[in-house]
Amino acid sequence: MRFQGKVAVVTGAATGIGGATAVAFGKEGAYVVLTDVNAAALDERLGEIEAAGGRGIALVADVTKASDAKAAASEAVAAFGGVDYLVASAGIQTYGTVVDTDEDTWERTLAVNAKGVYLAAKYCIPEMVKRGGGAIVTVASVQGLFSQPNVAAYAASKGAVIAMTRTMAIDHAGDNIRANSLCPGSVDTPMLRASAKLFSPEDPENALEEWGGLHTLGRIAKPEEMAKIALFLCSDDASFVTGAAIVADGGLTIRL
Ligand SMILES: NC(=O)c1ccc[n+]([C@@H]2O[C@H](COP(=O)([O-])OP(=O)(O)OC[C@H]3O[C@@H](n4cnc5c(N)ncnc54)[C@H](O)[C@@H]3O)[C@@H](O)[C@H]2O)c1
Repeated sequence: MRFQGKVAVVTGAATGIGGATAVAFGKEGAYVVLTDVNAAALDERLGEIEAAGGRGIALVADVTKASDAKAAASEAVAAFGGVDYLVASAGIQTYGTVVDTDEDTWERTLAVNAKGVYLAAKYCIPEMVKRGGGAIVTVASVQGLFSQPNVAAYAASKGAVIAMTRTMAIDHAGDNIRANSLCPGSVDTPMLRASAKLFSPEDPENALEEWGGLHTLGRIAKPEEMAKIALFLCSDDASFVTGAAIVADGGLTIRL
């Protein structure tokens, strides 16, 4: 119960890494504000938290809209008294080179993956300041640090998130707020499964297995493994960690 009485806002909390993080926070005593565009899955995650004896609220919110980001922070204050942690996990995966990425795809990718983090932080940070500090975890990707073919907009958005997270760490250190980005390799979530279906419509399970084989540990990660790192980064155990891009990729990027 490391987070008893604390308040965590989690974007992209309906499924995948954000979903696992929201549930983990709830199980460790935090009041959780779960936001996402997927109302049905959001309610399922809130149900898991409540079944484990935790408390939270679910808000249907689009991370690209300032009014929704503002509402998430103010609902956290209204329901639970403030904001201590933000985990910004909402994201979309898009594919294409700069030549074949159309402008709509570029703008949508940057809006959800980068602007969404900016807006969530913009409205949560002032609430953290009122509480005397806090911690932010942005869910980036190894693709913000290294790359692969055909992910121009996605990689650009993740590079932006890592750079923005460093600026938040510097700008708000004096407010007792730490900010770190989490850079996963492949994680078994609806997003990765959609990619597997796209690349291997006949046998997506085989694609997931093949991608797992690219990781030194020989498998893809479970969302719960990412949630544990996000919670560590929010906890006092990470009191001297800020501005870092934590690579949690099962050894994907250490191989030549
Ligand atoms: N799965 C992986 O292999 C992997 C690897 C590296 C990084 N990531 C990153 O992890 C984060 C979480 O992804 P995931 O793998 O858990 O996928 P996911 O699709 O399960 O979760 C993403 C969530 O974001 C929500 N979302 C999308 N657009 C939104 C919007 N405009 N407003 C609010 N919510 C929105 C979705 O509804 C979904 O619930 C993403 O930022 C992704 O880029 C994932």
